Amino acid sequence: GKDVKVAVLGAAGGIGQPLSLLLKEIPLISHLNLYDIAHTPGVAADLSHIETRAKVAGFLGPEELDKCLEGANIVLIPAGVPRKPGMTRDDLFNTNAGIVRDLTERVAHVCPTAMLGIITNPVNSTVPIASEVLKKHGVYDPKRVFGVTTLDVVRSNTFIAEAKALDVSKTNVPVIGGHSGVTIIPLISQCTPPVSFPENEREKLSVRIQNAGTEVVEAKAGAGSATLSMAYAAAQFCKSLIDALNGKNEVVQCAFVRSDVTDATYFSTPLLLGKNGVEKNLGMGKLLDYEVNLLKAALPELIANIKKGEEFVAKS
Ligand code: APR
Repeated sequence: GKDVKVAVLGAAGGIGQPLSLLLKEIPLISHLNLYDIAHTPGVAADLSHIETRAKVAGFLGPEELDKCLEGANIVLIPAGVPRKPGMTRDDLFNTNAGIVRDLTERVAHVCPTAMLGIITNPVNSTVPIASEVLKKHGVYDPKRVFGVTTLDVVRSNTFIAEAKALDVSKTNVPVIGGHSGVTIIPLISQCTPPVSFPENEREKLSVRIQNAGTEVVEAKAGAGSATLSMAYAAAQFCKSLIDALNGKNEVVQCAFVRSDVTDATYFSTPLLLGKNGVEKNLGMGKLLDYEVNLLKAALPELIANIKKGEEFVAKS
């Protein structure tokens, strides 16, 4: 396959470090560039001793950001502040919105054709922010900008496989919509293999999936939000992008992208990925009445989150 250079922005954080470790194990990655405003020399030195192919380099502080991004094929952004108990993903907005705007600005200048995976929350707003910044610079390609929602799929697969005693490695639940609370819509009716639940059980599972992030925030009791499972999910997503870049057929992932599937202008659905990013939006399929109701409940909040992101860039 083709050599792939991946840049991680926010690489020294709770997500960034385990994500970088998992990326270091991907054989097709030739260069792994780690950027943060603190600690990257140490993280890079540590990872660089691992006997896998990717050449690791650390970049510290804004003056080294452009160098980190040079020639990157994939840029993953987990930079930002995490959620604490009592906070919603939306409470993070002001700090993280500015971070994503400023980082994307440099992506627009240095590696405008890279695939961009945004992890920084609130994803429902940060993806529109990144998109607006790229638009401002005339380099926006909606096929290449993704909100990484893979963790919602990973959680759904885990919880449903557990509930039905399925082989989790062969369980796949599409998750559509956004990436916080009621905007997350697991399509349990489209699970592979097919599963069925009594209505109250299906509802309990859906609610658990929607609130799974909060489950972790509360268990961590002030120490942050999901990092290890998020890193796993982001590495899986990155593998799919690399497979797609290398011309592998039938690479399908759910991600939060520019969309005309619903009234929300960004929306997660299963996507067929190819060399140029989104090859085809596979849409949401046929929903059960129960899922239609989840969608109805999601759209107003999702649309407001998107607007908030777009307005942030318009004002700045
Ligand atoms: N540029 C680069 N890195 C930054 C910047 C910036 N402007 N601001 C902060 N960072 C770095 C921090 O130095 C830190 O290393 O981002 C990292 C964030 O790590 P943590 O604080 O441990 O947060 P984490 O749990 O990794 O979550 C990061 O991902 O899922 C989301 O909601 C989560 O938005 C949060 C983000």
